[in-house]
Amino acid sequence: MTREKLRIGMFGYGCVGQGLHDVLNSSRGFRADIVRICVKDRNKKRRIPMSNFTFDKNDILNDPSINLVVELIDDADEAFNIVTTAMKKGKNVVTANKVMVAKHFRELVELQAKHKVSLLYEASAGASIPIIRNLEEYYDNELLYSLRGILNGTTNYILTKMYNEGKAYDIALKEAQDLGFAESDPTLDVDGWDAKYKLCIITGHAYGLFLNPDEVFHYGIRKISTFDIQHAKEKGFKIKLVPFVGKTNDNTISGFVLPRFISSDKYLFNVDNEYNGVITEAAFADKQFFSGKGAGGHATGSAVLSDISANSYGYRYEYKKYQQGTVTNYTRDYGIEIYLRYSSEKDRKLFALKDVSEYFSSKLYKYVIGVVNLETLYSLREQLSSMDVFIVNTGRKVSPQTP
Ligand code: HSE
Repeated sequence: MTREKLRIGMFGYGCVGQGLHDVLNSSRGFRADIVRICVKDRNKKRRIPMSNFTFDKNDILNDPSINLVVELIDDADEAFNIVTTAMKKGKNVVTANKVMVAKHFRELVELQAKHKVSLLYEASAGASIPIIRNLEEYYDNELLYSLRGILNGTTNYILTKMYNEGKAYDIALKEAQDLGFAESDPTLDVDGWDAKYKLCIITGHAYGLFLNPDEVFHYGIRKISTFDIQHAKEKGFKIKLVPFVGKTNDNTISGFVLPRFISSDKYLFNVDNEYNGVITEAAFADKQFFSGKGAGGHATGSAVLSDISANSYGYRYEYKKYQQGTVTNYTRDYGIEIYLRYSSEKDRKLFALKDVSEYFSSKLYKYVIGVVNLETLYSLREQLSSMDVFIVNTGRKVSPQTP
């Protein structure tokens, strides 16, 4: 296949933009010219000459010689504006913006078809792990039972530092921010939003369903305490933030984001620091495990480069699962066995736990293990931040479905 010569207009020159620049400069044999970079801040010191930059997005969007837009800015609304304008002008786009893709998934898929352009976003989920293209190409006809993993580097870094080194949550978060892993607003990381957006994107390629992120339950690690870590250690577990999506029957899936206990015999146990890991379970391929750096300028830049390169060969997502149309429903009628650390009995009752298998109470803390319905968790989502509770998926199978 012939390679199209790429003339790139880039938006954003932050952690990922600079990472991409480094990666591109070190990639021999691949030539793509970054014609212009559009940035917001006129006063920021840049590490390359100012002649590379513009402050006017139209310098890129209206330049007919630019055939690829690479969007790497923080602001999801402005990113949507830029990306859709570029697509409508017939330009292909590569983006790393998970919030934008997850929130406008269906519209972005339709725009690609309408304007015969390609939008690639491998970097948006799992950074350096090529999970989207794998789901799109490799699992074309495979019966995929479920997919779960670690999709947020910041929370994994925090949990690792708390567990391995006994570091305080705030210190570990600050380190993750200094290392360039965290979002500008780290609430997105620690409260599980980021992992949820990535889960929604992955679900689009795994099952062909474009979930509305507002409909999907997410819960993060903000409320974790030393009691929870101590409990996990005593039982031989680590705690990881694990998004999950899986089939409940032929045409229905369920999915959510929750911290999860991971025992030492599991693949995810040794996925530490900013690394991400994804496990797929399928009828014929059985269990597969992908792992790699999930955050950071170079790791994310490498995925962006891969998309740029794929673009030069004319690659585009075909949304094969969506075309097949096998999965049509998402359900929250789904049982999950949880560890619930709590202080007020009134709060505990709200979870309407069934099949309680363990109960512990001391002066310092109380916990209970039982099965909660995902719908109940979803209905409590607004209240959870004000409750003194921490929730962890035990990962044990709840029949008849299997989280
Ligand atoms: N803040 C994100 C993370 C960056 O920590 O995973 C990569 O998407």
